[in-house]
Amino acid sequence: VEALKIGVAGLGTVGASLVQLLKKHQSQIALKTGKTVEVRAVSARDRSKDRGFDTSSFEWFDDPVEMAKKADIDIFVELIGGDNGPAEASVRTALQRGLHVVTANKALLAKHGVDLAVLAETNQVSLNYEAAVAGGIPIVKALRESMAGNEISRVYGILNGTCNYILTRMETDGLSFEDCLADAQRLGYAEADPTFDIEGNDTAHKLAILTSLAFGNKISSDDIYLEGITSITTADIKAADELGYRIKLLGVAQRTDTGIEQRVHPTMVPKASAIARIDGVLNAVAVDGDFVGEVILVGPGAGGNATASSVVADIADIARGDAGPALGMPAAVLADYKRARMRLHEGGYYIRLS
Ligand code: NDP
Ligand code: HSE
Repeated sequence: VEALKIGVAGLGTVGASLVQLLKKHQSQIALKTGKTVEVRAVSARDRSKDRGFDTSSFEWFDDPVEMAKKADIDIFVELIGGDNGPAEASVRTALQRGLHVVTANKALLAKHGVDLAVLAETNQVSLNYEAAVAGGIPIVKALRESMAGNEISRVYGILNGTCNYILTRMETDGLSFEDCLADAQRLGYAEADPTFDIEGNDTAHKLAILTSLAFGNKISSDDIYLEGITSITTADIKAADELGYRIKLLGVAQRTDTGIEQRVHPTMVPKASAIARIDGVLNAVAVDGDFVGEVILVGPGAGGNATASSVVADIADIARGDAGPALGMPAAVLADYKRARMRLHEGGYYIRLS
């Protein structure tokens, strides 16, 4: 069986789970894709750190850019994080060298997505990012592939596991915001800088990717109305409860007469709605397509294992040769395409739900 050689840059929450998953399920993945997927090279800052597995059989690189330049690999997997620095530099280097790239880095894609997609297509390699939106939920594939025959009118959902975990535990266990956030960090849900989670930026990054896939707009999180959950108190949650609502941080993108409206903010959702019942680290993404109707996907939105599961989905696609345009349409088309137009939402923190 032909081997597909992998380099993993970043051995933190997601990277460590990925290495363990690929080892545990190597034969199953080979059966399903026709190739053995083998980790050959790894990169992280601290070589001496205990990662729960032996790294001595892999070629080690302190610098991920060096790994992208020199390692004997077919796929460069970026699990470092950040929209610049070593993540950006190593991904660009890998694409330029003609390596396929798989990344979970929504911040990088929200800032440089079109650019990187052009680079991938120019070099005829894949740029895959299932794990970048809603962790273990296969929403990128759903939009790119399964729903390609639909005109999408709306995409919305709970896109950040840390915020949903905080809001849920504040409500159900009466814990303080700070304690819930500390727990989310301990469980590996939060970003390296958790202000990205709680201020809504991470949701905006993911929404920008979804908007691009759904509506063909350029990825741009600058065009998104943004409000996080830092001002939500237990009193707000209780008041919402008494009125028959729960508070959720939602990302919403919808087609309107004047353009694509994009917004991220805490939202009062009716308790009877499907979205109100999504608790803890779970995420949910709802998509309205004109032929299929409403599709709702629910699953773990963060955490090492769930996210690694999505990273492997991308690797499996490359193993099978299922590469398509990175952003759901050829990047050259997208580069000339429209930016999403943001229309400030009217009617406050509300979304019409059936
Ligand atoms: P971590 O902070 O746990 O891990 C980051 C890894 O990158 C560490 O191994 C670190 O090395 C390494 N690293 C950082 N800087 C450098 C550098 N300059 N050179 C080499 N290696 C470096 O992050 P996560 O695993 O949580 O997240 C990784 C990516 O996945 C991010 O883009 C994140 O947004 C995304 N993501 C995370 C999810 C989650 O649930 N955690 C879910 C979905 C996406 P060292 O270990 O030596 O410090
Ligand atoms: N920090 C992110 C979250 C990780 O909590 O949803 C998954 O993208």
